[in-house]
Amino acid sequence: MLFLDLIAKKRDGGRHTPAELELVARGAAKGTVPDYQLSAWLMAALCRGMDEGETVALTKAMAASGEKLGLGAVKRPKADKHSTGGVGDGISLALAPLAAACGLAVPMMSGRGLGHTGGTLDKLEAIEGFKVRLELPEIRAQVAKLGFSLFGQTGTLAPADRTLYALRDATATVPARPLIVASILSKKAAEELDALVLDVKVGSGAIFRDAASARSLAKALVKTAKGLGIPTVAVLTAMEQPLGRYVGNALEVRQAVEILRGDETASDYLECLLALGGWMLKLGGISKTPKAGAELMRSKIKDGSGLALFRECVKAQAGSVAAIDDLSLLPKAKASRSVKATSSGVVSALDARKVGHAAVLLGAGRAFKDQELDYGAGLELLKKVGDRVAKGDTLAILHAADEVKLGLGEREYRDALKISPAPRSRNPSS
Ligand code: URA
Repeated sequence: MLFLDLIAKKRDGGRHTPAELELVARGAAKGTVPDYQLSAWLMAALCRGMDEGETVALTKAMAASGEKLGLGAVKRPKADKHSTGGVGDGISLALAPLAAACGLAVPMMSGRGLGHTGGTLDKLEAIEGFKVRLELPEIRAQVAKLGFSLFGQTGTLAPADRTLYALRDATATVPARPLIVASILSKKAAEELDALVLDVKVGSGAIFRDAASARSLAKALVKTAKGLGIPTVAVLTAMEQPLGRYVGNALEVRQAVEILRGDETASDYLECLLALGGWMLKLGGISKTPKAGAELMRSKIKDGSGLALFRECVKAQAGSVAAIDDLSLLPKAKASRSVKATSSGVVSALDARKVGHAAVLLGAGRAFKDQELDYGAGLELLKKVGDRVAKGDTLAILHAADEVKLGLGEREYRDALKISPAPRSRNPSS
């Protein structure tokens, strides 16, 4: 069958056979189908959808397009967490070393930014020198030695996803349930896990904004993962406003390091991190309950072992440890701007999707395939939902390469923000 016929079949609402989906996965993995045809097929798949059988077949074909990690010699339980994508969601950076400090082996194959959401690989590359493209023997050696590694798809590891992921990002074909399931689980299948925790985001900044769609994505992910023999739980977490205090690549490295140093300012980030970590430790058999797992993980922040392991990982993957020890050495954008409140009141909304778009406009995300990122670009969010503000207060600090980008980012950020009148004090004499 010609790939052209396959595109036409999906365009017209046809149902693919497993053999046809193997053609898609193989064509993407080996580069034998041009990007424009793969992109056309992705759009047809998004518009026409795929049923459960097609989703499973695509996931299996994409998983089979590459090699398995082969971590049989690692004795610790192998566990991972994967998020469906959010804004300010750099949790993996802190979670992987903490889970390793608790006794899990975490072979974390991650992705780049998708649409308005950030990606772990882009954040890691904000650390000067950090190598996310590792060969299989390097990953095996590092997981055996440190208990974790953070790396990306390669020509041999989930290669079909590497191509399709980048095309989806540049063709507005991210929000398709079967494509998300196949993308995430083809990576996780290569890791041969004992436990997988899926962080399914819900809210304005999530791929699916409404709870019903997020729940149905979670169900599809868990069902398909179980079919692949991966013990999995999905946790629905809020993505109405960005997570934590920073959005942008170097800024989110800062956030992760601050958390690992014991700074609890970003309480929403810490809460989400511990909830997911607790489930990883429960499912991986280290803790009896998710709550006990969360407590164990918190103890690894307190005793500094999570931070020590993160430093080791940065060193092992050729990144600048100096930038972890002294965060002022992380990349900085050329220009910055403080955004001030034009009225007093309480922040009642900070739309995560719009903040994610602002980050892209500032240079922290991609508008087209292979676009270079400005690692220092992004937003420092000084005020979040529920915070009181007075006219003239600094709400956020934006970072970008020039004033034009700062202007575009500011407009989008202001559009994301809502300040409502503060409720009157109940006790007028106080
Ligand atoms: N993460 C992935 O790896 N793939 C998706 O499609 C979405 C989030």
